[in-house]
Amino acid sequence: MSRNAVVQAIGHAVPSKVLTNADLEKIVDTSDEWIVQRTGIKERRVCDGPIESTGWLALKASQEAIERSGIDPLKIGLVLCGTVSGDYIWPSTACTVQDQIGAKHAGAFDVSAACAGFIYAMSNAAAMIKAGEVDHALVIGVDSLSKQVDWTDRSTCILFGDGAGAVVLSAEEDTDRGLLGTVLMSDGSGGKFICIDVGGSRYPYGSPQSVGKKETITMQGAEVYRFAVQAMGDACCKVLDKLHMTPEDIDLFVPHQANLRIIDSAAKRLGLPSEKVFLNVHKYGNTSAGSIPLGLYEAEQEGRLKRGMNVLTVGFGAGLVWGANVIKW
Ligand code: UT7
Repeated sequence: MSRNAVVQAIGHAVPSKVLTNADLEKIVDTSDEWIVQRTGIKERRVCDGPIESTGWLALKASQEAIERSGIDPLKIGLVLCGTVSGDYIWPSTACTVQDQIGAKHAGAFDVSAACAGFIYAMSNAAAMIKAGEVDHALVIGVDSLSKQVDWTDRSTCILFGDGAGAVVLSAEEDTDRGLLGTVLMSDGSGGKFICIDVGGSRYPYGSPQSVGKKETITMQGAEVYRFAVQAMGDACCKVLDKLHMTPEDIDLFVPHQANLRIIDSAAKRLGLPSEKVFLNVHKYGNTSAGSIPLGLYEAEQEGRLKRGMNVLTVGFGAGLVWGANVIKW
């Protein structure tokens, strides 16, 4: 037993606008049947109007988490935000949230690890808590990829939705609860399989070198699919090995919700029965860094995730990056 980073409370946010597969049939050449068969997605939430954005979702999720935790924002020493769709190129979304919640004594930065952003951010926050650098951290996973999607590209626009989750992590001494362990992995050679070319310093907006490059998501779906199936299983096995645990020790599996077939293959490799696998991909699609904390939130609300349970989370995404962790809730 020693000092660990324990989840005190979790919050969430999704936009109210629902985009169904039937709605998408009116925008691109697709069908509800194709989307459900290939992905399991039935509908997703998308930001609407000038106010709704990544920062807006992050703030709502954070406010709920802080309120439920009862922790004074002035005691929060760190705000970390996993996102690849921040309100601005800079400043960071973490800084805008830090200001809006009044966390006047916190350091704040964004973590760019796409759909694995929440796992990466949790690992960083927990390490700082365990090292005694901070006692309380706010960790957010959020994206609004509806803003980055090419709505004429049927191979990508059907996949993504917007959403956020946030947790307040606090130091506790002599506890068996908390973030038990994490594995983080990357393979930058696969960066071309899912990316946004324009808008950074290599191909700035409107620059001569950006001509012919896309400002929206491009993806080689089959390559990402192959990678994801392998990566999800590998990361889970690795973190369980590291913790000397087996799949039988896991009470609930909350994987990144990108595609039902990818989740099924990971659960099968681990030998996890369906009652231990949390799914909400049918309602939200792939909300990128928002996906795992949104899943944790809903699992808790549904009574499937209770204090003291071991929850395994795993994510993969652009980078390429992937990772997994086990949290004793
Ligand atoms: O967090 C990471 C985010 N990315 C992912 O998780 C993506 C991982 N990849 C996937 O989930 C799958 O590769 C997709 C769902 C994107 C695609 O499924 P697939 O079984 O790999 O389909 P495919 O790309 O091999 O396409 C099969 C056919 C193609 O037609 P042809 O060339 O065989 O005639 C596509 O043009 O399906 C066509 N197609 C569609 N048809 C109807 C592609 N998108 C659509 C669509 N509706 N939306």
